[in-house]
Order: sequence, then structure tokens, then C-alpha cells
Amino acid sequence: MALLEYEDSEALGLVRAVDTATVAVTVENIELLRKLQVNRLVVLQSSKPGQHLVGVVQKITRDAATASALGETEEHAGDASEERNIVRITLIGTFIDRLGSDENIFRRTLETVPEIDSRCFPIEGDRLTQFMRAISYLGSADAQRLSLGTYTLDESADAFLNANRFFQRHAVLVGSTGSGKSWTTARLLEQVAQLVNANAILFDIHGEYGTLSGDGVRHFRIAGPNDLGTNDSFDDGVLYLPYWLLSYEEMTAMLVDRSDQNAPNQAMVLSRTVTAAKQKHLEEGGHTDVLANFTIDSPVPYDIQEVLGELSRLNTEMVDGSRGQKQGEFHGRLSRFIARLENKLKGAVRGVLHACPAFGDSASG
Ligand SMILES: Nc1ncnc2c1ncn2[C@@H]1O[C@H](COP(=O)(O)OP(=O)(O)OP(=O)(O)O)[C@@H](O)[C@H]1O
Ligand SMILES: [Mg+2]
Repeated sequence: MALLEYEDSEALGLVRAVDTATVAVTVENIELLRKLQVNRLVVLQSSKPGQHLVGVVQKITRDAATASALGETEEHAGDASEERNIVRITLIGTFIDRLGSDENIFRRTLETVPEIDSRCFPIEGDRLTQFMRAISYLGSADAQRLSLGTYTLDESADAFLNANRFFQRHAVLVGSTGSGKSWTTARLLEQVAQLVNANAILFDIHGEYGTLSGDGVRHFRIAGPNDLGTNDSFDDGVLYLPYWLLSYEEMTAMLVDRSDQNAPNQAMVLSRTVTAAKQKHLEEGGHTDVLANFTIDSPVPYDIQEVLGELSRLNTEMVDGSRGQKQGEFHGRLSRFIARLENKLKGAVRGVLHACPAFGDSASG
């Protein structure tokens, strides 16, 4: 059924002036005018059948005297008094009853403008819920709904998000402090936890969602220095991050002493050997697709002992020179660096070097 179908008797008033995307509507029924609020949505009859124009109320004026107080020209000064109640509306789009096999489509374009004397209706209650659903592409049968609450525009209208669309895209919640961003996030998370097909990971940097509970919600904390040597495991909610997740920047911050005169060499050798070790892992696994595009920061596993072995080899390498054997390019330049790495590895349990502040000069774990 067409969503924005109205009886003429439900009209707020009639269009009296049209100016590009702004429309002036006169409201005869003073009760309706009183109920009307700025930012409410209205629908206007379009000149095309099966289409409606949707607008937002910008300004409501009671009579001509107030209008002039607001700086309006008294265009209607000579009109009958009931025509002085003016609602100014900005058009925001077109609502189409049917397009091909789709019903109730909202487009943010204006192909027509309303005609003088066409009717204007409020979008409220159930119609608002339905309208917002159409806007959120919730009309389709497979739409997975996430309930957000009700609209401030009209508390009897439910606000939903289309979960399929929501998870396919990047999204950002914005608002001034106290406007409800954290609350909305918690509400979404609670529902996502119930969905069969959705897996969500929340990085709760500020520990805001510690009280979130219920079926499908599990809390983990990243292992820290205090967990070294304990038996806390994944089952206890402790998450150990593997060393190979460290980015190049984090590795150098942890392993390279910048005051060391060999620091640039060490960083370069580290980059080279880790890249080679990651490449080896990918080659051995036959991951040709990843091989083509990976960088040192790609989360690819590698054997840290192999890297250590290669560093030691370079640190003691002898090469052929014109007068017999001579020291290799990095001979003796990596000693302190290797010592630091060995030190970090000693602290590691279960074969993983934890990406936690205990290992770094920086706390970027
Ligand atoms: N939809 C809502 N209905 C009723 N109360 C709400 C709603 N959303 C938020 N609140 C209340 O408003 C207060 C502030 O909300 P919230 O903490 O989510 O804001 P915030 O946008 O995250 O703020 P900040 O930027 O300070 O983190 C909370 O006490 C919360 O209970
Ligand atoms: Mg918050």
C-alpha cells in the first residue's frame, strides 16, 4: 500500500507561495498550527501522480504582525486573517509510491515543485516510522533491523537502522558531549550480539563498555606485564597478541635505541629481515595473492628465531675482499640490537612476544 496516502481532511493547509526549494503554506486550522514544530516533516502533493514532495518545517508564523517583526515583508497584509498563519517549508526530496517492483522509495532529488493550492500534510506517528524505514531501506524483506529508540521529532515513531547496510559501510556517530553517542553504541552492540550472522569486535579503548553483558558478549583484555608467567589464557578472557602483529614503527620503537650510532643500520636490517621472513611464510603457504601486495606492516606470521638467526649472521659476517677476507657491511653493528631483541624474547611465554608496553619504550601495544 502507498505509504503517504492522505485524506484531504488531514491537510495542514494549502501552498500559497513557491520559491525554488522553499514553500509557504497557509494553515487555517489554528489547532494544527499549534501542534506543528520546526524540523517536523511534511508531505506536499506533487504535480506528478504517484509522487509526493517531502519537506522540513523551517519557520512557523502566527500572523502578519509577527511576520513583520521577524523581518518578513507583509505580502499578505490585505488577506483575510486566517491566511496569515504561514509555515515555511524547505523541500528535501521526492517520495515515490512505486518504481518498478519497488514500493515507497525516497529520493533526495526534486523533479517537480508543488503547485499553488496543493495540499500539505504532516508526517507523524506510524507514517513517520514507515517513512523513516523507507529512507533507511528497511522496506526489503531481508532487511535486518537494529532498533535505535524513538525520534525526538515524534516519540511515537520508532527509529531503526538497516543492519545489512550499516555493516557494509563505514559509519561514524557524531554529536556534542552528552548527546547519546555511547548510549547508541551500547544499544547497537546489544542487538548485534543477538544477530546470528554478525561478528563484532569492539576496541573499548576507554573501558566504557565494561558493563555490557548478555548472551553473545565476551570480554577480553590484552595481556600486560603482570600476566607474564601466569596461566591466564584465552578462556579466562586474556588475549595475548602475537609479535607479528607489531607494525614496523612499533618494532623499531621497541628494539632500536635511537641514540645508538648504528640505529639507522639496525632499523634498515630489521625491516629487510622481517620483510623477508614474512615473504617466506607467504611463499611456503602458497599465498600468491597476498604476496603481490604485502608490506612489512601486513599482519603476516613469521618466525622471530629466524630473524634473530639472520641478524646474528649479518653481525658476524665475513666477506671476500681484494686482500682476502674482510668484515661484512653490518659486522659488529648489530650487537646491541640483537641483545635487546634476545632480552625481549626471554620475557616471552608460550612462544609469543607480547605486544604490550612491557616490551617497548613506547606504550603502543
Ligand atoms: N536515547 C536515549 N534516551 C534516553 N536517555 C539517553 C539516550 N541516549 C543517551 N541518554 C542519556 O544521556 C546521557 C549521555 O549519553 P552518552 O553518555 O551516550 O553521551 P555521549 O554522546 O557518549 O557523551 P560523551 O561525548 O560525553 O561521551 C546518559 O546518561 C544517557 O543515559
Ligand atoms: Mg561517550
